[in-house]
Amino acid sequence: LRREALDRLQTVDDAAALNDLRVHYLGKKGQLTEILRGMGGLTAEERPIIGQVANEVRAAIEEVIAQKQELFDRAETTRRLQAETIDVTLPGKVPAVGAVHPLNKVAQEIEDIFIGMGYSIAEGPEVETDYFNFEALNLPKNHPARDMQDSFYITDEILLRTHTSPVQIRTMKEMNGRTPVKVICPGKVYRRDDDDATHSFMFHQIEGLVIGPNIRMSDLKGTLLQFVREMYGPQMQIRLRPSFFPFTEPSAEVDVTCVRCGGQGCRMCKQTGWIEILGCGMVHPKVLEHGGYDPAEVTGFAFGMGVERIALLKYEIDDIRHFYANDVRFLKQFARM
Ligand code: PHE
Repeated sequence: LRREALDRLQTVDDAAALNDLRVHYLGKKGQLTEILRGMGGLTAEERPIIGQVANEVRAAIEEVIAQKQELFDRAETTRRLQAETIDVTLPGKVPAVGAVHPLNKVAQEIEDIFIGMGYSIAEGPEVETDYFNFEALNLPKNHPARDMQDSFYITDEILLRTHTSPVQIRTMKEMNGRTPVKVICPGKVYRRDDDDATHSFMFHQIEGLVIGPNIRMSDLKGTLLQFVREMYGPQMQIRLRPSFFPFTEPSAEVDVTCVRCGGQGCRMCKQTGWIEILGCGMVHPKVLEHGGYDPAEVTGFAFGMGVERIALLKYEIDDIRHFYANDVRFLKQFARM
């Protein structure tokens, strides 16, 4: 049995066959085990002799198996090391990475500019009450200016906000009469417009509000000039045209040097050299009162701009709908800007 086992073990050349032989000789039903089990039928004199022989045979077989096993293990390790070699000189695969949406990018830029001037960010709900969206902003019921902002009403008193100005009132009330107030309020706004190249039923605004003792129109003008120069370049100029908003008095619309022609006059600015970018004014006394401030003690300015408009000008995009179409070919262009 010993010779037969050792001969067969010599010719074994893989781990599976080696295991088969181990089971065949040493396993629970293996040949050597059978012999050891049969020892009960032997005489007391025979038992130690046969037992010793059997143990020697087992030891010999185990030793050869162990040697073979080590050989196979080492061969396996070598094979795996070769098979799993990594060629670190191969060029890598570039993973597909998304990019920040141009609207988020521009909104963030605007926020950063104002944060740099000491503003903090305030937010408010998109589903707003008639009071905050209109009433407190000096647009009482039946005020003709309500038509300018054709609204999505949910009930008589609740609507999707048509501008970020209601956050002005919310911020003032939260401040409980304290000054200075210096916030910008970014967010989505909704109007019942038919979508086209320049209109969308939903768009983004950033509102600004500053309140304190002795805040003047010149502060507003200087702030906006600084903003425009950081946004579009140090050569930019602004001009304020008288305008009307119910919540500011006086009110103005702000034009910036045409970003395309630099003020020379082109088709984009209709040969005027100017492009309108936002609305602003001194906070109306009635609005200050609604916010819990005494107009005899404090004054303030406010402005509101459309993020889409700022972005359209910055990147010279000709259709607002590009922002919402999620066409990767459009979005990709902003990946590295
Ligand atoms: N809320 C105005 C709009 O949506 C913009 C604005 C804000 C004007 C603040 C003046 C002051 O058109």
